[in-house]
Amino acid sequence: MCGIVGYVGRQEALPILTEGLRRLEYRGYDSAGIALHRAHKLAIFKACGKVREVISTLPKRIRAHTGIGHTRWATHGVPSDVNAHPHCDSEGRIAVVHNGIIENAASLRDQLLAQGVRVVSDTDSELLAHLIARVDADRLDDAVRTVLRSITGTYGIAVLDTAHPEEIVIARNGSPVIVGIGDGETFVASDSAALVRYTQKVVYLEDGEVARLTASGYEVTTLDAAPIARAPDAIEVSDGSYEKAEFDHFMAKEIHEQPECIRRTLRGRLDKRFHSARLDGLNLSANALLGFKRIKVIGCGSAYIAGLLGAKIVERLARIPVDAEAAAEFRYRNPIIEHDTLYLAVSQSGETLDTLVAIDEIQRKGGTVRGIVNVVGSSIARKCAGGIYLHAGPEIAVVSTKTFVATLIAFTLLALYLGRMRDLSPSDGRRLIEALEALPAQVSELLERESDYRRLAARYARYDHAYFIGRNCGYALAMEGALKLKEVSYIHAEAYPASELKHGPIALVTEHTPTVVLIPDDDLAERNLASIEEIKARRGPVLAIIQNPDHAASADDHVTVPAMHELLSPIAMLIPLQFLAYFAAIERNCDVDQPRNLAKSVTVE
Ligand code: AGP
Repeated sequence: MCGIVGYVGRQEALPILTEGLRRLEYRGYDSAGIALHRAHKLAIFKACGKVREVISTLPKRIRAHTGIGHTRWATHGVPSDVNAHPHCDSEGRIAVVHNGIIENAASLRDQLLAQGVRVVSDTDSELLAHLIARVDADRLDDAVRTVLRSITGTYGIAVLDTAHPEEIVIARNGSPVIVGIGDGETFVASDSAALVRYTQKVVYLEDGEVARLTASGYEVTTLDAAPIARAPDAIEVSDGSYEKAEFDHFMAKEIHEQPECIRRTLRGRLDKRFHSARLDGLNLSANALLGFKRIKVIGCGSAYIAGLLGAKIVERLARIPVDAEAAAEFRYRNPIIEHDTLYLAVSQSGETLDTLVAIDEIQRKGGTVRGIVNVVGSSIARKCAGGIYLHAGPEIAVVSTKTFVATLIAFTLLALYLGRMRDLSPSDGRRLIEALEALPAQVSELLERESDYRRLAARYARYDHAYFIGRNCGYALAMEGALKLKEVSYIHAEAYPASELKHGPIALVTEHTPTVVLIPDDDLAERNLASIEEIKARRGPVLAIIQNPDHAASADDHVTVPAMHELLSPIAMLIPLQFLAYFAAIERNCDVDQPRNLAKSVTVE
């Protein structure tokens, strides 16, 4: 979603800002822009389209040492040059970049229009520039604080003022803003991706905070100007994590990183002495954990689907009722929060607003919530008083692949931990640990069969619709397979429990509608094979993902994945589904890493 970058210091700001914008591209956006302080004036360059299109409008060299940049994902107003950020006041004195949504924008716009202000864009963000310019204050941070006190909604902002050419004022409420500390230079970004090249020392702004950045440092205050002392943290990731290396796309790189991701999520967490797991980060004693009668998982998109699978894994081993729900659905139904329920919020980015607001709802009602999050220091990670970090490394492709797998590993560890506290036997615990340790090599083996997946994808990419079916864990996996395919290849794909096909969707099965059938080698395999017969009777093409070679018979095509611990089979069966989506997108000339309309972290409701 929208991204912010900013620089103040001795170096030329422009190359730092353009590089920062490129690093933010993966978040998904439709327009981009830059504002620079130059000879007591603002130079603004912005355009609808890709960052390279903005860069192509820039003069070769602009001497400026302070500037801000933005990638926009449209909320108020269509993607267009005029709606792109930065936005300025009518005099061209103030420039603002903004992530988030101003909820009282309509009344603020009316007020400004009544005062004769000419508002040129359809955005809520432009209003901030006009409002800041109209405050009579000597200091820019005072003016910004005054305006923000009259705003409702979410924001991460960075502001320039020609009257204060060597500073940037930033503020946060519900949309991340990170300060990067350099030597005689200070950076700001909404995502550490834009910072890691220059510094590993960062300060995370909290909601309701404003900061004034200069080349020599930062001052953080509340909205009421009370000073806040904030020491820098270190970012863990290196610059190399944001490079494609030898791969054509980040999605391919991240699929191939999965064996290593599994090892990283497991590292230091397998307790071989007690055949259990170590999850100290949960910050919950054994007593507290034993007191929970239920677990409720919330998340959005793939994080929700991983939660559905995770719920089945935990329920199976820990023998405690677990269910998962889409975070926005959960929060909007005024949920009953029970004190003997452990709530788990799943999020790769740790910034998804629907999930964040659902956490607020749980905490406001006195519930206990923990995070299963990839990005260290993200809003969700900080809001929950503990949890399980995935340690999957940055995921740059908009679609989740490696973090989905890492989430399943985190749930398996939790299942093992809770199971061994309850009635999972030591030998069953040991069997699962051995299976987890063997998993990275099994996944590596599956990754080597790329050319087979490519051939299959070429065949199935010519269809415009597809079904994915499975039972139990296979159904959740079908949901993820369908989501991946539609996200990157734009093929219309729907997932159903295999048993539901005959209750309606089979009406659409023809020779033009293939079905991907997920058949783990379990006691439901026979039922899944019967579903294939129903599809074949309607001449529907079938691609089966199987574990037992005997299950290939009636499918048109199949991929066989190795037999393994039944709780880990979904991970193995997921690999061909990820590749099917990836190669289908390539066949159809789609933008694999930045699919249309999608954003990496969805920070609006
Ligand atoms: C997955 O491929 C999607 N890009 C999307 O569904 C994503 O999982 C969802 O927006 C939740 O994101 P989060 O994990 O960062 O909370």
